[in-house]
Amino acid sequence: MASFHTVEDQARPDAWPENKNGAPNSHADRDVAGTPQPKVFGPCPGSGRDIEVRCMPDDSLHLPLIHDVLERLKATPGALLPVLHAIQDCVGYIPDDALPEIAHALNLSVAEVRGVISFYHDFRTSPPARHTLRLCRAESCQSRGAEALAAQLREQLELDDHGTSADGRIALRPVYCLGACACSPALELDGRVHARLTPERLRKLVNGCREDAKC
Ligand code: FES
Repeated sequence: MASFHTVEDQARPDAWPENKNGAPNSHADRDVAGTPQPKVFGPCPGSGRDIEVRCMPDDSLHLPLIHDVLERLKATPGALLPVLHAIQDCVGYIPDDALPEIAHALNLSVAEVRGVISFYHDFRTSPPARHTLRLCRAESCQSRGAEALAAQLREQLELDDHGTSADGRIALRPVYCLGACACSPALELDGRVHARLTPERLRKLVNGCREDAKC
């Protein structure tokens, strides 16, 4: 069981221990009774402070946070994209209940807001998986073996390129350039880029995720 100096430490992912495979220790986001504990997605651009995020039983419980973001960003020129990014950064995804609030604050229709969310693949409308693997499929990585690594991922996880495991814990997403072209092939795992990837390193990363996802 992980030990933390303070309650605040427990809420910081960088204070969480890692397991031997390098994946975050899943026990760190649960208390002794197995109750999900808050996760921190980093500072919220809308409010500038770290936000503790729980999987809310009801999406509407995120509304105070969404109102806070809207209040701070609605006057920004071209506010829709900054607002959507801020909500996703703070909540982890864009809840359906947020759409009428966003539309009202920005004087748009709900259909317009929904259209922008669905146009950009990086916006999520449901809570993120515990582990998300984003393999770069752009030219530089392709020329250094990314397609073979993609096939390895599909086989090892039994998922397609956009797949999510049945328990929702591991997600696979293609991405087109991670800015690490000089060190390709590259993959981003939970926001951290792994460059000069080899089949063996990829296998270890995936095994670490799978072990963690069992917990
Ligand atoms: S092409 Fe893969 S990181 Fe740029």
